[in-house]
Amino acid sequence: MSQSRQASPASTDPAEELRLSLEREPPQIPSKYFYDRRGCELFEAITHTPEYYQTRTELAMLTEHADALLATTAPRDLAELGSGSGRKTRVLLDALVRSGRGRACTLMDIAPDFLEPSVRELQAAYPSLDVRGVVGDFVHELHRLGPGGERMLVLLAGTFGNLDRIAALDFLRSIRAALAEDDAFLIGVDLVKDPARLEAAYDDAQGVTAAFNLNVLDVVNARFGADFDTADFRHRAVYDVERARIEMRLRAVRPVRVTVAATGTRLSLAEGEELLTELSCKYTRESLDAMAGRADLAMARWVTDPDQLFGLALLRPRGDRR
Ligand code: TRP
Repeated sequence: MSQSRQASPASTDPAEELRLSLEREPPQIPSKYFYDRRGCELFEAITHTPEYYQTRTELAMLTEHADALLATTAPRDLAELGSGSGRKTRVLLDALVRSGRGRACTLMDIAPDFLEPSVRELQAAYPSLDVRGVVGDFVHELHRLGPGGERMLVLLAGTFGNLDRIAALDFLRSIRAALAEDDAFLIGVDLVKDPARLEAAYDDAQGVTAAFNLNVLDVVNARFGADFDTADFRHRAVYDVERARIEMRLRAVRPVRVTVAATGTRLSLAEGEELLTELSCKYTRESLDAMAGRADLAMARWVTDPDQLFGLALLRPRGDRR
């Protein structure tokens, strides 16, 4: 599972947030609704498709470089944002335990249902660490992690890319504010590459990603009493070269009228009109480094795979204090 979002209207009431999102141009659906039970299963299946290289590439890179990455700042605590019990977390925790310095692991996720079992499993697997879960939205609630010091924050799975660039810079600034001088932030980013390869990663031949994208309509139907019919929409993944981002869309294959009971919204779409459901921004080492610099962070390490598909960056507070 992972937490993700596009820039969403500043509203905490979910129905109001959905209403404002649907009134945008193009209409949007907040991407957090992807991850119900079926959505999580479908996302897991996406990570096993031949086209979606990100998960296995990041896992291989972590396996190879975890010790060196941790050795850079020698943390005692890890805090993973927006995901949980996965194999990648374990690779990092194995390295933390090997370092002989391991003390604690905090998992932060917006979904308590997924967090609790993850915490239990990891605590059982790593009895020498103090494992705890914090329910919260890592974009706005990093303070819930408590004070830092000898800590590494971690955000994997390209989730960072699901923030638009304005939100991404804001987020890096809030990360900077949460870091003590000797802390670090480990972040995974999908890299700019051939558009055909990117589009295939978000539109696999088996149609798993299409099913995942369409599932968001069922989630909105169940949660907000909407009457979207998935048969009225077709999945599309489009790479915008200029903005270096994939856009996930749902295109109306015929004129569509939808009512959302909880918000009182009526939505009319002409044939060919599209809903925007997710963004996935792509980075280069340079573009990430530049953004990090604007957040007063410096890239202490950069790791990539032989095909330059994916990058791991270790960011630290910048400044002359060291
Ligand atoms: N964090 C993932 C990514 O951007 C999420 C994701 C993968 C996704 N495939 C998707 C989101 C398809 C929406 C639709 O790579």
